[in-house]
Parts: sequence; C-alpha cells; structure tokens
Amino acid sequence: MAEEAEKTGEVEEMIEVENAIDLEDLPSVGPAIAEKLRDAGFSTIEAIAVASPTELSSAAEIGESTAAKIIAAARKMADIGGFESGDKVLERRKRISKITTGSKALDELLGGGVETQSITELFGEFGSGKTQICHQLAVNVQLPKDAGGLEGSVIVIDTENTFRPERIMQMAKARGLDAEKALKNIYVAQAYNSNHQMLLVDNAKELANRLKKEGEQVKLLIVDSLMAHFRAEYVGRGTLADRQQKLNRHLHDLMRFGEVFNAAIVVTNQVQAKPDTFFGDPTKPVGGHIVAHTATFRVYLRKSKGELRVARLIDSPHLPEGEAVFKVTETGIEDK
Ligand SMILES: Nc1ncnc2c1ncn2[C@@H]1O[C@H](COP(=O)(O)OP(=O)(O)O)[C@@H](O)[C@H]1O
Ligand SMILES: [Mg+2]
Repeated sequence: MAEEAEKTGEVEEMIEVENAIDLEDLPSVGPAIAEKLRDAGFSTIEAIAVASPTELSSAAEIGESTAAKIIAAARKMADIGGFESGDKVLERRKRISKITTGSKALDELLGGGVETQSITELFGEFGSGKTQICHQLAVNVQLPKDAGGLEGSVIVIDTENTFRPERIMQMAKARGLDAEKALKNIYVAQAYNSNHQMLLVDNAKELANRLKKEGEQVKLLIVDSLMAHFRAEYVGRGTLADRQQKLNRHLHDLMRFGEVFNAAIVVTNQVQAKPDTFFGDPTKPVGGHIVAHTATFRVYLRKSKGELRVARLIDSPHLPEGEAVFKVTETGIEDK
C-alpha cells in the first residue's frame, strides 16, 4: 500500500495543481463570465487554453481581445505545450501498468495487456469484437492486480449506444466479481455528437478527480466508437481539415487523461469489410493520419470461424508484428 502511494504520489500532485486553479483565477474572469464559460463547456483551464478567441468570445459574450488575453493566461497556467524534463518522463513511465484482455495470446501480442498512459485503438469491421473487448476490459480493470487488473474504475463514452450492463454482469460473474459492484464502478455517458463527445472528456476529468478524493481510481477510459460521430458529421472534402483538427484535439485530451490519471485509453474505430475505392486497404481505419499517429497500439480485429477472432498489431514502434487468435464466448474474451 505504501509502495503504491509512493508510486502514485506524483499523480496526486499533478491533480492537486489542476484542482487548485479555478476559472475565476484567470484575468477578467469574474463569477458571471466563469458561469457562462462553464455552461458552454469550458469548465477547465485546459479547455480554455486550447480554445480559439472567437469560440471563447461568443461563449462568454466578451470581446475577442479579452478572450485572447484569457486564453494566453490559461495557456500559461495549464502549461500547454510545456516541456517536461527527461527524468520526469522516466518517473511517469515507471508507473505504466497493464490490464489483461482475458486472452493470454492477445495480452502477449500487446506486450502484456492494455497499457496505461497509452491509447489503444481497436479497429475492425462490424461484429469483429471491438465492443466485446471494451466490455471485458471494463470488468478486468476492476480485478485484483495478481489477476491482471488494476483495482480501478472505468469511464465509458458510448457513442453508438452499445454499452450493455447485462453483458458486464455476465462477464463479471465469470471472473468471480460481484456483478452489481462491477456495474457501480463503471460510469457511462452517451455522446450525442462530436462536440458532446469532446466535452465528455472534460467531464471525465472532473469525475475522475472527484472519485480520486473518495479513494476511487479511474484506470480505464473507453471511447466506443471514436469516429462514428466525426464520420457522420464531417462529410465531403471541404470539412476534412476541420474534422482532423478537432479529432487531433480530442485525441490529445484523451492522451492527457491517460497521463494524469495513469489510466489506459481504449478507443474503437470501424472499417469497411470490403476494400473499395475509398478504402484500398481494408486494414486502414477511418480517421487517417491523426489517429494513426496518436494511438500507441493499433489492433486490427477480424472475424474468423464462429467464436474465433484474429487480432493483428499494426505499426507498433516497439513490439513485433504478429497475430493472436482468441474467442468471444458467453463468458467473455478467452484464449481459443
Ligand atoms: N453474450 C454473448 N455470448 C457470446 N458471444 C457474444 C455475446 N455477445 C456478443 N457476442 C459476440 O460478439 C459479436 C459482436 O461483437 P462486437 O464487439 O459487438 O462487435 P463490434 O466490433 O462491431 O463492436 C457477436 O457477433 C457475437 O459473436
Ligand atoms: Mg461495437
């Protein structure tokens, strides 16, 4: 326990610093403006730091030059784009831990399981098992450490309304967990559109901070699916740059959550089943380069016979490429 506290000491510190800053600490921001900002979804210093003056000025009904000043101050406070010394990076990386997927073969492919402080992207066609793995991880992260878990809680951003508590209960029972308790440790929000989806990451931060004070650690954040809203809302070439910019910000917010809370980030992404003119390579997920460059682990899933599924690790800088076969059964993700 003492060792654990020591290991997480630095995270506490980072969170306290974040908590210590109120919107009202920003220049020109009084209670009235702070309230307008919060209502518009700018509830953290970071959210303001990465906003544009136009966005902020319309949200808070202030002039653009005032908005620019507020943003500049927020950037300083949030240390956005700041540097971290190498020893700090090493310290942070020492805390990386792993969550079992339920399949030894799949864990091995990933270098021991799904990592904290990383984004793992599961991509594949409909029915390839992306949502099933998410459900399984939401259960497994709650397991004791010697059983491959992190004794942590989960936040799920559900964009396709595919979260099923019944499935969680089924999987939890199979792992010897109290099904009701397992459900209580999973916090689910439906994202109605891409803006809402992005906002939910801010809300997730607040929730994780609050839970932390109550002694509960969020160790996994799931976005299932990452791209569905972005894909539906941004159609046509003209809007692509705008979409990529937002997606970029969203992924960086997610990454930051992973670092601050030493949590694993798991996102899903659907691909077309058959190669066509737009998707020459069936293993290419939507989202393009931004997703490809931000995700640390990219796992391509495909259906095989019956319950069998095949996972392949794509473009991993530090793990060998390979495949793992696992199955999706009534009790969850298992080795074949
Ligand atoms: N309760 C269950 N028992 C056994 N298999 C299941 C169960 N629920 C889902 N599955 C399997 O998972 C598949 C759906 O996978 P899913 O993860 O939802 O796909 P996607 O990649 O589209 O998210 C189903 O086709 C079925 O094979
Ligand atoms: Mg799904």
